[in-house]
Amino acid sequence: MCGIIGITAGAAVAGGEPPGGTTPGVLPTLLEGLARLEYRGYDSAGLALTGPGGLWRARAADGTRSLEDLAKRAEHGPDGAVAGIGHTRWATHGRPTEGNAHPHVDCSGRLALVHNGIIENHVELADALLADGHRFTSETDTEVLAHLIETELAGHPDGGLVGAVRAALGRVRGAFALAAVHADDPEVVVAARRVSPLLLGVTDGAAFLASDIPAILGLTHDFFVLDDDQVAELRPGSVSVVSLADGSPVEPVPLHVEWDLDAARKDGYDDFMSKEMHEQPKAVADTLLDRLLPDGTLVLDEVRITNAEFRAVTKVFVVACGSSYHAGLMAKYAIEQWARLPVEIDIASEFRYRQPVLDGQTLVIGVSQSGETVDTFQAVREADRLGAKVLVITNVVDSSMARESDAVLYTRAGPEIGVAATKTHLAQITALEVLALYLAQARGTLSVAAARGLLAAMGRLPAKVEAVLARADEVAEVAGACRDSPSFIFLGRHVGYPVALEGALKLKELSYLRAEGFPAGELKHGPIALVEPGTVVVAVATRTPVWEKLVANVAEVKSRGATVVLVVEEDDQETAGLADHVLWVPATEHLFSPVVDVVPLQLFAYSLARLHGLDVDRPRNLAKVVTVE
Ligand code: F6R
Repeated sequence: MCGIIGITAGAAVAGGEPPGGTTPGVLPTLLEGLARLEYRGYDSAGLALTGPGGLWRARAADGTRSLEDLAKRAEHGPDGAVAGIGHTRWATHGRPTEGNAHPHVDCSGRLALVHNGIIENHVELADALLADGHRFTSETDTEVLAHLIETELAGHPDGGLVGAVRAALGRVRGAFALAAVHADDPEVVVAARRVSPLLLGVTDGAAFLASDIPAILGLTHDFFVLDDDQVAELRPGSVSVVSLADGSPVEPVPLHVEWDLDAARKDGYDDFMSKEMHEQPKAVADTLLDRLLPDGTLVLDEVRITNAEFRAVTKVFVVACGSSYHAGLMAKYAIEQWARLPVEIDIASEFRYRQPVLDGQTLVIGVSQSGETVDTFQAVREADRLGAKVLVITNVVDSSMARESDAVLYTRAGPEIGVAATKTHLAQITALEVLALYLAQARGTLSVAAARGLLAAMGRLPAKVEAVLARADEVAEVAGACRDSPSFIFLGRHVGYPVALEGALKLKELSYLRAEGFPAGELKHGPIALVEPGTVVVAVATRTPVWEKLVANVAEVKSRGATVVLVVEEDDQETAGLADHVLWVPATEHLFSPVVDVVPLQLFAYSLARLHGLDVDRPRNLAKVVTVE
């Protein structure tokens, strides 16, 4: 949830020497990396530096201005830092105050530590540490780690920081990605991981770590992925990894990332969300790229499931959260129609605790942009434990979920920085529909020719998405006409229903307005009581098989005084005639239509948030990657 970065660049930087052309400065690297990590959480930020003068720490807790404040404080920091760690926080234990901001230090003030995750047994550990005379200064679960490491270091100084971190973590239950520095050995950064992600990178004169690729993308394209229960020691120009359990050396998994640093910047757009919405045609096109072999066979990215096992599948579960969950709902129709398999969609945080009925013939599809969402990650782990086959759809190569699954289909959307999912969401729907075709092909429920035809139709989606984006100004006008409404209802039927849910989620998370999505047919069973003059009803009124029924539901809300906004296919004047405002989209084969129809709803939410003066990239209380339950 929080973002972590660390660097050691050694004496070359400390001595003020030209750093071999490539070795970066410690402080600028930390500040820039934190800026790129801010989407992981942003209620406070902090950093610690080590060097000839010992350990120096600065923290700031001013919400979205925390980083600015931190940079100002760092101007008064020490000269000659050789290593450092940084953190951007999304509060879980303890309020978002400066005292609770990371890094946390031990009693001596010579050890500093940043942490992402939750220490589940922190209360009992803190009690024991307090009894031993340690002094706590924060309300966080993380601070126990600093004191535990301090205790272990004092007891067994020969093991060094790595030994102390290993011993301390042996007493901990929970999830962690952490990085620690100590004034006694200023060039060393020690990192460890369980469940929460952590990447390492090495260049000639330096070594880095980060919880996410964009933070250190400008420094290297070659990373190592730290695995669960591994501890790494970073020194300038080298990284060594050992097992947390027994200290034996481990070869870390290399990862080459093609992403361009520009992809993690705004490219002239006002904000990342706008940039990322405009990258959607490419995200969809790239996700479709090279999916068909000359013989008509469809291709996933990594498959450790045999054809016979795919053929034997009798049931599909999709587990996901938020927008990824909506993508699963949208694809259910395609999987059922083409592959003739029953599909159940589950909120990942519910799935895990309800004893789902799974066996070796169940395919569980985990959908997660980040591949790190702890609810989804633990849900697919549970599915794996129960014997199901696990296939993951994710945007991050070699993310935790990708590595633990039996098969992977990557959404090739590039890094998404805006907190609200946009381009990754469209790429997820696309990937899920490719998977629906793949399953249909494996089970023989769709001929090669039919699958080829459907894939060709999907190839036309990027141009349609482009056409919707070209109408962004019209959508902004509609948003302007609705700006004073306090309450929004989103309606859809069939594949339009999950599109409505996604439209409502986007609006509430970006503009903090009341927005609920319903299946239009359900309206009469309760939600219609919400409708009164001034309520805006946004309905997905494209020509799905239940279009006629949808427009009847629209008439019901219109007669009760709602302002009606309809998503309508170009040239469909009949439907447009029912609306107060129209969001036009190109006509699309109905099973693919969510990829196109959700785009005006993203634009609508974006425009309303901007009209209300809100920060679309960093909505309040939210974080991009949710690595806590
Ligand atoms: C909404 C949004 C979230 C995520 C959800 C799952 O715009 O971005 O609802 O979809 O937190 O995240 P991933 O896909 O990383 O598992």
